[in-house]
Amino acid sequence: MESMKPEKLIEALEWRYATKKFNPAKKIDEKTWANLEKALVLTPSSYGLQPWKFIVVENQQIKDQLRAVSWNQSQVSDCSHHVVFVIKEKMDEEHITHFIEQTAKVRGMDPATMEGYKKMMIGDLVTGPRSKVISEWAARQVYIALGNFMTSAAVVGVDACPLEGIDPVKYDEILGLTGTGWKSVCACPAGYRAEDDKYAAAKKVRFDSSEIIINKK
Ligand SMILES: Cc1cc2nc3c(=O)[nH]c(=O)nc-3n(C[C@H](O)[C@H](O)[C@H](O)COP(=O)(O)O)c2cc1C
Repeated sequence: MESMKPEKLIEALEWRYATKKFNPAKKIDEKTWANLEKALVLTPSSYGLQPWKFIVVENQQIKDQLRAVSWNQSQVSDCSHHVVFVIKEKMDEEHITHFIEQTAKVRGMDPATMEGYKKMMIGDLVTGPRSKVISEWAARQVYIALGNFMTSAAVVGVDACPLEGIDPVKYDEILGLTGTGWKSVCACPAGYRAEDDKYAAAKKVRFDSSEIIINKK
């Protein structure tokens, strides 16, 4: 892999901002979008279990419905692709078995050799104390995907806005998730900034690095 120059990375992260106004006429092209989907899929997770789904809404009617339950934030209806970050509410043996089978398939292994690993994951997340707070665990995982998505989008020149200002229960109703064991956590509209979005030029407000980075040399 040819590595990116560090200053290029910072340039992309400074260019990125929580876009308040998208240009509704500008759509993300198929190739760029396909690669952003790959970036979502490549997100790492604890044990590699991927307790998530990413619902990509391009349909205007559905985007308009979702805007109404997203504090009426215009980004939801004006973006090109609206990504909803969804988690599996409870971890179960079936999901873990599916993961073990996928590992065996991809790496050409015998699933029987991973029996101990499987039992360990079940003991931790399905039957152990962590099972009581498993949807919080899953939400932590899906936020990694959100961060990964935002950075990936910035690197390829796509604008995005992370959104917690949504009604997840209403999202679940609109997206047909209610009662399925899957639930919405947050969302991220993506597309291209409107030329008159004044927030694009606003200075970034961050604490001084000396306040938040603690070096122990
Ligand atoms: C998890 C999360 C949820 C957020 N929710 C919203 C939101 O609902 N609406 C919005 O306009 N901005 C939202 N933001 C954007 C933040 O306000 C913004 O990222 C922060 O002020 C830093 O500004 P910058 O992203 O432009 O650098 C959210 C950011 C994060 C990380």
